[in-house]
Amino acid sequence: MKMIIAIVKPEKFSEVKNALTDSGIEGMTVTEVKGFGKQGGHKEIFRGTEYKIDLLNKVKIEICVEDSEAENVINTVLNSAKTGKAGEIGDGKIFVIDVEKSVTIRTGETN
Ligand SMILES: Nc1ncnc2c1ncn2[C@@H]1O[C@H](COP(=O)(O)OP(=O)(O)OP(=O)(O)O)[C@@H](O)[C@H]1O
Ligand SMILES: [Mg+2]
Repeated sequence: MKMIIAIVKPEKFSEVKNALTDSGIEGMTVTEVKGFGKQGGHKEIFRGTEYKIDLLNKVKIEICVEDSEAENVINTVLNSAKTGKAGEIGDGKIFVIDVEKSVTIRTGETN
């Protein structure tokens, strides 16, 4: 199994959520987070001589799926989270982690 962690723009979250639920995933965890990327949280590529790091609001989505589904999930996030606006930065990141085990608490069922 893989855990796909996607950090997206808040204004893109409902589009990403709808695309993911339409693709048939069986669950997700969503957290409101703050973060910065390569531009130190600046919203534009050129912003004078300001070196201060800003933390921007983002939404973190965690989805655990079978290995065979991971590429589908990644592509679904890519296609729905991208703003496509010229010069727009900060569309987000996707991290993929190997998951050793999952347990359903109600039934004790694993994976
Ligand atoms: N190296 C990192 N480690 C952990 N979280 C990160 C890292 N880079 C980015 N993030 C998270 O992803 C969010 C979105 O990052 P962002 O889209 O700005 O990445 P970027 O690599 O700077 O890409 P872009 O050039 O489009 O801005 C950040 O606010 C932060 O929460
Ligand atoms: Mg950035």
